[in-house]
Amino acid sequence: MSRHLHTELIHAGTPPLAAGTGPVNVPVVRTSTLRYASTAEYDDIHQRRGAGENVAAYGRHGLDTHRALESAIATLEGGRHCFLAPSGLGAITLTLLALLSPGEHALVQDSVYSPLRRVDHSLLKRFGIELSYFSPSRDDVASLIRPETRLLYLEAPSSLLYEIPDLPVLSALAQRRGVIVATDNTWASGYLYRPLQLGAQVSILAATKYISGHSDVMQGAVVVNDDALAQRLREASDSLGLAVSPDDAYLSLRGIRTLPVRLAQHQVNALQVAQYLESHPQVERVFYPALPSDPGHALWKRDFSGANGLLSFAFRQADGEQARRFIDTLELFAIGASWGGYESLVQLAAPARLAEHSYYQGSQPVVRLHVGLENPNDLIDDLSRAFQAALSH
Ligand SMILES: Cc1ncc(COP(=O)(O)O)c(C=O)c1O
Repeated sequence: MSRHLHTELIHAGTPPLAAGTGPVNVPVVRTSTLRYASTAEYDDIHQRRGAGENVAAYGRHGLDTHRALESAIATLEGGRHCFLAPSGLGAITLTLLALLSPGEHALVQDSVYSPLRRVDHSLLKRFGIELSYFSPSRDDVASLIRPETRLLYLEAPSSLLYEIPDLPVLSALAQRRGVIVATDNTWASGYLYRPLQLGAQVSILAATKYISGHSDVMQGAVVVNDDALAQRLREASDSLGLAVSPDDAYLSLRGIRTLPVRLAQHQVNALQVAQYLESHPQVERVFYPALPSDPGHALWKRDFSGANGLLSFAFRQADGEQARRFIDTLELFAIGASWGGYESLVQLAAPARLAEHSYYQGSQPVVRLHVGLENPNDLIDDLSRAFQAALSH
């Protein structure tokens, strides 16, 4: 009998009882090293890890708390292998370094999380790996794939403006050309969108956002099904010495238990705020895929099971100064760059970042909101006050 994913996530990673009783939660197991009962045990564990088995041979590999989280994230994504990283950006860099070699090329959606471009310029270029950027809505991707292209890198929906690439179509194309597809799935946190079922081979998560859900953890994960890809990721992760604290692994695991209900409430709140903004005379455009007016709405309806609390809007007529006054007047939205916690946040989208996205042609300031779990009517009152304060003079 197959159960709902929501139900599976309540129990995923919980080990069977070893004795008559045990804690509800997976214990936090802290250690920097392991003890072995004999040299034969030591050799056995090291050999098994060397052969690709996900067993810990040393503290860096993590113990029970990590295995439980990996198992829960694999359940979330419908994947077989999960690799933890100390941040979402760490998970992105791990993927790029594991899958690309000197002389190879990756095609990257131009609206992805922008620090990836820093990884490109500061690291990959030095290793002779080339990245080029494309628009999933406008470019003919088939004509951009070169003989040395190994990876198609996507983000669905993308950062700041939530452009949605057509993953099934792009994956089918990539597969015909022998190109691996990796996608950043942080927006949907695995729960609202399942890239491995839609044709991608690699799904990347920043657990920093909705998975941990309380703005108190930095963490990333990479999930794959294919054993050969898993082995490359394991070797790269071991070589880079990536380690995650068991306390942080515990917090992410705890977050997964309530992820579906939190996401559902973020969506209810964000939709109400998005509809308010859409009807506001000072707003030119609202970016939120769950709104029928969003260009990505049809793809969102087809491929996603819900939305979250992230939305952006462009002013109809405001200068940078007025946009800043708007943000500075807000009381319930803290000024901050992240998202995915219980609280509301606001950020002015940097024009230099927006310019990288061929998806957006406008020149008006864009504000990104993370709509938290406050009462949405209070958030709308806060926004109304800020519009008045910012645009009345
Ligand atoms: C879409 C996306 N991917 C990855 C990251 C990176 O995650 P972290 O902040 O944990 O490095 C972020 C952070 O904002 C993000 O928005």
